[in-house]
Formats: sequence, structure tokens, C-alpha cells
Amino acid sequence: MSSFSATAIAHPNIALIKYWGNRDHAIRLPSNGSISMTLGDLNTQTTVTFKSSLGSDELTLNGAPTSGSGLSRVSDHLDVIRTLADLSFKAQVVSNSNFPMGAGIASSASGFAALTLSACSAAGLDLAPQELSRISRLGSGSACRSIFGGYVEWSRGENDLDSFAYPLVDREYWMLIDLIAVVEKEHKSTGSSQGHQLADSSPLQVARVEDTERRLHVCREAILGRDFPSLANIAEEDSNMMHAVMMTSSPSLLYWRPATLAIMQSVMNWRSDGLDVFYTIDAGANVHCICSPDVEDEIKDLLIEIPGVQEVIRAPVGGDATLH
Ligand code: PMV
Repeated sequence: MSSFSATAIAHPNIALIKYWGNRDHAIRLPSNGSISMTLGDLNTQTTVTFKSSLGSDELTLNGAPTSGSGLSRVSDHLDVIRTLADLSFKAQVVSNSNFPMGAGIASSASGFAALTLSACSAAGLDLAPQELSRISRLGSGSACRSIFGGYVEWSRGENDLDSFAYPLVDREYWMLIDLIAVVEKEHKSTGSSQGHQLADSSPLQVARVEDTERRLHVCREAILGRDFPSLANIAEEDSNMMHAVMMTSSPSLLYWRPATLAIMQSVMNWRSDGLDVFYTIDAGANVHCICSPDVEDEIKDLLIEIPGVQEVIRAPVGGDATLH
């Protein structure tokens, strides 16, 4: 029996300028560019072993053997890599994350980045990071940003070959902290893959997409200049714009819970009182509160007091996806 194995670790990321909607759903060619911060301490570790003896792909997610749509999505992704490597072996995939799945903490981003890196390495492909990013995009759009650490931009590109992410600045450049206020731990009812397909049904999506270059520019400049107030304003505006599209799509997607709104309002008040903190929310009810390290203890204590906040998860800016 022959087998080839590799293990990779990747971090999730939180979008500061959000990806929402695709021009081509099959290859996840996004409607707009996006910018994110990679989240350290939170990670997904994935081991891929290609074996001549296997009749089909196998997936174990956080200790549980997984079949159905979860396995098909992984198998489809492995097919892309098998084709590139001219390999026919099926694979055993074992993946573990140290943070709650399906609750707006982008487990698909770290998951597909770690899967891409480990599977490509096990298959003997020696690829540049930008190619790993492009391949990760095919599994989950936001995964293309999780190949890199620090602050990362994903250009929307014109086609399959030129839509990938690249680092803007590394993590040491600006050590912000993400305090994730968890108000819901269950799997969300509409995942982002389905959500992207609804984006164009909102009349607001056209305006949101048209305005993206402005938001990307302001966000990029704010990061390069370590300008907290400017980053805070543009990230909150962008998050609100995406949720406005979600709420006005057909059917409507409303991810917020009462506690979500209570946190948003509190964060705005704390910032008016002079604390460096802003909110941003992905496709879920949990609120990412990005703050500077000197106020993180105070913000954490304030967050935990808000009714409905079950837990606060801390993540500093993280590094690149790596092989182990
Ligand atoms: O990569 P996906 O399909 O899980 O979509 C991610 C969508 C958001 O998290 C809401 C925004 C983003 O840019 O990460």
C-alpha cells in the first residue's frame, strides 16, 4: 500500500471589508474585493493522507466521522488538487478546530486553507502562496485570505486565474485584538454559500458593489497609517452595508439577535467615550469587537456584562497558514 500524508494549520479571518455575492458561484469569483485580519490563537489543523487502498474519501471533523454535503464539498476540493497533481488516490482527512463551528467565526476559511495546504503538500505539489490562495478560494471564498497572516486583501480579479489574496502588512505592523462576543453557538440556518446566491436579489447589492473601491481604499489607507478612527468608521459602515443587503434579499436573511444589536450600540457608545473599539459581524449573530491592546481588558469586562453574551473569545492578529 502506498500513502502520502501532510498536516497544515490555518487561522480563520475576520473581514473588515466584506465579500458578499459572486459573479460566478461555481468558481467563487466574488462580486467585490475584500480585506481581512487573520485571527491568531484560533486555528484549524488538518491532516490529509492519500492512500492507494481507499475506495472513497473519508472525513473526520472534530472527532466525528462526517458524510453527506460536508464530505462532498471536501471531495470536490480534493478533486481539484488530484487533477493538478495527476493523482487518483482517495484521501483520509482529519480536521480539528479549536473554536465553535458555524457561528460566524469563519470555520470554512481556516478549514479550506488548511485542507488546500495539506492536500497540495501530500500530493507533492510545490505551489507559490498565491496559487494556494487561488485554489483555497474554490473551496470557500474567504479561505483564500487565510493562507496569509496579518492584514490581507483579496482582489476580485477578472477570472479564475487572477482572483486570489495577498498580504497588505504583516501581523507585527499593527497588533489589534479581536474580542468575539458569542451570543449564539448553534449552526446558523443559512450558511454563507447559500447566502452569496441571494445577494443579487437585494436592490441594495448593486450600490454596495459599486461603492466597494472607495471602501477598500479607505480601509487600506487606515491600515497602512494605523489610523484607528478611520478603520473603525469604514469597517462598521461596510458591515452594516452587507447586513442591509442580507436583510433586503429575497428571502431575507436576518442574522442578528437582540444581544447582537445591544453589543453594536454599546461599542458605538464606548468609542464615543474615547475607547478604541469597533464592531464587525459576519454571517452570524456573534459580534467581532476589534480593539487596541491597551483597552482589551476593559472591553472584555464590559462585553461580558451585556445580557445574552455567553462567552468572549480573544484573538490577536495571526500569522500565515503553515505545514507541520
Ligand atoms: O467564504 P464564505 O463563503 O464563508 O463567505 C464569507 C462571507 C463573510 O464572512 C460574511 C464575509 C467575508 O468576507 O468573510
